[in-house]
Amino acid sequence: MPKTTVGRRGLLGGALALAGAASVLSGCAPDPPAVFDPKNWDSVRAQFAYDPAIANFSTYVFASPPASVRAAVSRHQAGFDQNPIQYLHTNELRQHSAVLEAAASYLGGKANQLCLTDSTTMGLGLVYNSLKLAPGEEILTTTHDFYATHEALRFRVLRDGASLRRVQLYADPAKASVDEIVGNLVAAIRPNTRVIALTWVHSGTGVRLPVKEITRAVAGRALVCLDSVHGFGAQDATVTDLGVDFLISGCHKWLFGPRGTGLVWGSYPAWEQTVPVIPSFDFANRTPAASPGGYKSFEYQWALAETFAFHQAIGRDRVSARTTELASRLKEALAGLGKVTLITPRSAELSAGIVCCQIDGREPGDVVNTLRQQGVQASVTPYDPPYVRFGTSIVNDENDLDRAVKAVSAL
Ligand SMILES: Cc1ncc(COP(=O)(O)O)c(C=O)c1O
Repeated sequence: MPKTTVGRRGLLGGALALAGAASVLSGCAPDPPAVFDPKNWDSVRAQFAYDPAIANFSTYVFASPPASVRAAVSRHQAGFDQNPIQYLHTNELRQHSAVLEAAASYLGGKANQLCLTDSTTMGLGLVYNSLKLAPGEEILTTTHDFYATHEALRFRVLRDGASLRRVQLYADPAKASVDEIVGNLVAAIRPNTRVIALTWVHSGTGVRLPVKEITRAVAGRALVCLDSVHGFGAQDATVTDLGVDFLISGCHKWLFGPRGTGLVWGSYPAWEQTVPVIPSFDFANRTPAASPGGYKSFEYQWALAETFAFHQAIGRDRVSARTTELASRLKEALAGLGKVTLITPRSAELSAGIVCCQIDGREPGDVVNTLRQQGVQASVTPYDPPYVRFGTSIVNDENDLDRAVKAVSAL
């Protein structure tokens, strides 16, 4: 079963490995198209400044935003550069609430149940360290979660001695079933379990948890907190559909928001069970859901309004269907090569846009380096065991899939 192996050195190592590739990029973004037709996938793709020489399957790490979002960032940046205090005071109330309203309209729930963060990691740290727990109460998590969840929980229990346990939800990701996952989780709940910390789509295997079925089965016995980053912007579900108590996500992956953006949504009763960790500057909102304060890169945060507008124009359902359709095609084509073992389930019921696989006799790092030389950007999962990982998204098309499959076939 995959264990997270990423640490600070791991993250930096990944960044350094990519730096070589980045230096060969031209840095010149193509001109944005005059017209954005959200019904046309070529027009959607043309909104992005991705290097067309590379079939990029790595938006699950860090995405590049579409033209409307880049324009909003530039516009705010120019205003801040001219007179920071004036621009801030003139715009902050309106922009902040526009972002919260846009997020609530995309995600469901209410604007005052949301707070803005810089990343999933920051949201996980805030939520897990803000929850009120009595002595003897327990947090239950899983062996499949990302390093940031495991570390945030480790810090939490170090601080006040709450107990922490991990459960394995499936033995073989490719053969996982809804019953196996829900059954293993429910069987692990104890009378003192107060919090269940889960991840919607596992970045080490591509397994998408059946969250609706899980929250139904948990039935309020514990708060369900979800790292949603690989579903948010790629799946068609609202917070009501999911039934979670906290949804924690970055906005700079599948949502294609500005770098350094994220959010936390919590139900009203869930927020009541927290004590804020970072003071808010949102003086109009004295609830526990108020966003962490401090002067920050507001030009990025505020451009989230355009990010949600971009997704709404295309349609959450269409983005999700396209992501899944491309992932399914990639899985079928890779499996057809004979030398590829799929780790991610083939069924759309238990997967999303992440596709993890193993190639017979080849080290994942070696595979990813060779693919990059062929103009295909994938990555290695930062878990043990490591896998080759692709992520199909709305910036990809069938041609990208062909390139990836050809490059793997030629290995
Ligand atoms: C499941 C999961 N959660 C969180 C993160 C970190 O996201 P962020 O950059 O938004 O902190 C990652 C990977 O980057 C991840 O795979």
